[in-house]
Amino acid sequence: MVKDKQYLYIPGPAPVPPAVVTAMTKPVIGHRSSDFSHLYRGVVAKLQAVYQTENDLFVLSNSGTGAMEMALANTVNPGDKVLSLITGFFAERFARIAAACGAEVERLEFPWDGPIDLARVEEKLREEDYRAVLVTHNETSTGVVNDIAGLGKLVAKTDALLMVDAVSSLGGVDIKTDEYQLDMVVTSSQKALMLPPGLAAISVSPKAWGRVEKCKEPRVYFSLADYRKTMVKGHTPWTPAVTLLYGLDAALDMILAEGLPRVFARHERLGRAVRAGMRGVGLELVAPDECASPTVTAVWAPPGVDPDQLRKIMREELGVVMAGGKGSLAGRIFRFGHMGYVGEFDVITGLAAVEMGLVKLGYPVQLGAGVAAAQRVLLADKEQGRMQQ
Ligand SMILES: Cc1ncc(COP(=O)(O)O)c(C=O)c1O
Repeated sequence: MVKDKQYLYIPGPAPVPPAVVTAMTKPVIGHRSSDFSHLYRGVVAKLQAVYQTENDLFVLSNSGTGAMEMALANTVNPGDKVLSLITGFFAERFARIAAACGAEVERLEFPWDGPIDLARVEEKLREEDYRAVLVTHNETSTGVVNDIAGLGKLVAKTDALLMVDAVSSLGGVDIKTDEYQLDMVVTSSQKALMLPPGLAAISVSPKAWGRVEKCKEPRVYFSLADYRKTMVKGHTPWTPAVTLLYGLDAALDMILAEGLPRVFARHERLGRAVRAGMRGVGLELVAPDECASPTVTAVWAPPGVDPDQLRKIMREELGVVMAGGKGSLAGRIFRFGHMGYVGEFDVITGLAAVEMGLVKLGYPVQLGAGVAAAQRVLLADKEQGRMQQ
């Protein structure tokens, strides 16, 4: 193994392209300068294109959790009823933030190996008036992607704001913010946006602004009103991570040059190849195909195999880093991230590492079976002309 060569397959931070690294070597500029306004306005406009929105959008110099807190802290007054769709570890976090903001949180629980059930959500929305509905679009802890288009239709008929955690999907999965009527969509930089950790973003619909104006809770660092005020000049209220903004600009250029439909198709196809590969190895997946995430795949450890031991062997002996299970799935699964700067051979390498790791653990695996299954998916797609990489 080459000593410091690491293959990163965790679902964030994800690999950063050389063009993005290079962009981040530019000299730092003052954040109250016209050069900064030009950079920031450009980044916001490009990110709005990826969000597919004309809503206001802000880039924040914190991780995605801060953006989740910003969404709630600016719109929810103590005692407001919030419906939290609990689908996994990150949905739990959204609910926790809502509770910390003083909301009366009602939890609607779903099995951690499946998507939200829109009929159950609709029933809840009929029974009760909520101020907000919280959903995790792509539940990184389970590899399940939820139907936010369908959810948007339901919530738009009510007074509730639909808040979407798109941290591990935006930039890899099609999110039509305006068409789906999503009020607040948050994401962070270190996933499909191909950046190091440190930036987040939030979009704010006119319906959400109406709520911000009525929110009594005072905010300072996370004040959306301050972000709106300084945006008039193309600035941010506080010192932003200028270097990361250069990187985001370059990453967005890459995404837009590839074209959103192609970027989404690439993720979908690589996700399908990973799932076929895992099944080829003889492993079972947490998410059924109908709701399987294009950016991360969660895999059940086979009988007698400790997934954390498998990860340790892959990391220490092969230089391949995958993620473990979170919450109730800790010690039961491992997770393979395939978001952002990923291509066919990233998938092949990751699957080869899983096969080799299992063999090293003494688990019976036919070497090459998973790799071949993935290769068949990739080649079949090529033949059908479905994908031009
Ligand atoms: C779905 C989801 N939500 C929220 C977060 C938290 O984001 P951050 O780590 O950027 O604060 C993550 C991070 O993995 C995530 O995957």
